[in-house]
Amino acid sequence: MEHRPEHLDNIIEAWERQQDAYVARRAERFGIILDTISYTHQAAATILDIGGGLGSFSKLLLERFPQASVITLDYDPALLELARYHLREYGERSVIVEANLVDPAWPAVLSGVRPDVVVSSTALHWLSSAQLVALYEQLASVISKGGLFCNADHLSHVTAGSLFHTASAADAARQQEPFEHGVPDWDGWWDQFRELDEFTALIDERDRRFADGEDNIDVTAQLHVEALRVGGFTESGTLWQYFDDYVVYGVR
Ligand SMILES: C[S@@+](CC[C@H](N)C(=O)[O-])C[C@H]1O[C@@H](n2cnc3c(N)ncnc32)[C@H](O)[C@@H]1O
Repeated sequence: MEHRPEHLDNIIEAWERQQDAYVARRAERFGIILDTISYTHQAAATILDIGGGLGSFSKLLLERFPQASVITLDYDPALLELARYHLREYGERSVIVEANLVDPAWPAVLSGVRPDVVVSSTALHWLSSAQLVALYEQLASVISKGGLFCNADHLSHVTAGSLFHTASAADAARQQEPFEHGVPDWDGWWDQFRELDEFTALIDERDRRFADGEDNIDVTAQLHVEALRVGGFTESGTLWQYFDDYVVYGVR
């Protein structure tokens, strides 16, 4: 069945509402990374968005940095097909690549291109701690000298009895409210997407690839910061935090 673009616009818009609900300060979180790039890496020629999904962050990067090429990398063929539609107006400045970040050979998809900036949003919690540490070591060899890495994600707040845990958990519970008012949650969004027949084969393949996937909610901000340093980044730290939602960064 041929789908008119508005079907695709609607499913992309529903994705944004779903992600905005899971990440209460998502726009602010994207904004702090965009501002940091403009303050320190304004002339970046290539920006890599890992776990880029259907291109939400890539689109903001393409808008803000008109001189840059943005590579959107993901292992989900269905979301990447949506990304091709979503980012179509940027022509050759938008490059969409399929790769599995836990496969040690993934950098081959970059064909030797060294990004000046690498970003990720709400994606790396899909990796185990060991896979994350290995990825940071690889990123240190992929990114250009002096290049910037920024990762935005919810990180661990599980410290029994601590104020940080209590406040983060309470805020996470408050953030459930949009789902009670018609915003699709993760499973609900996938149910809507599955209704678009032309994506059935791609979504089946996606389900096969991520069948064993499980969120890793044990990783602390401290682990990210230390893994970046151990991996070969010369500076690392936290750029932004809202309860257990962080932007961590590293400079190569
Ligand atoms: C919650 S989505 C976030 C997408 C996008 N960054 C955003 O903010 O809208 C997580 C993304 O990480 C991707 N991902 C998870 N594990 C991956 C892996 N091993 N390799 C590549 N992408 C992966 C998923 O396919 C998915 O698109």
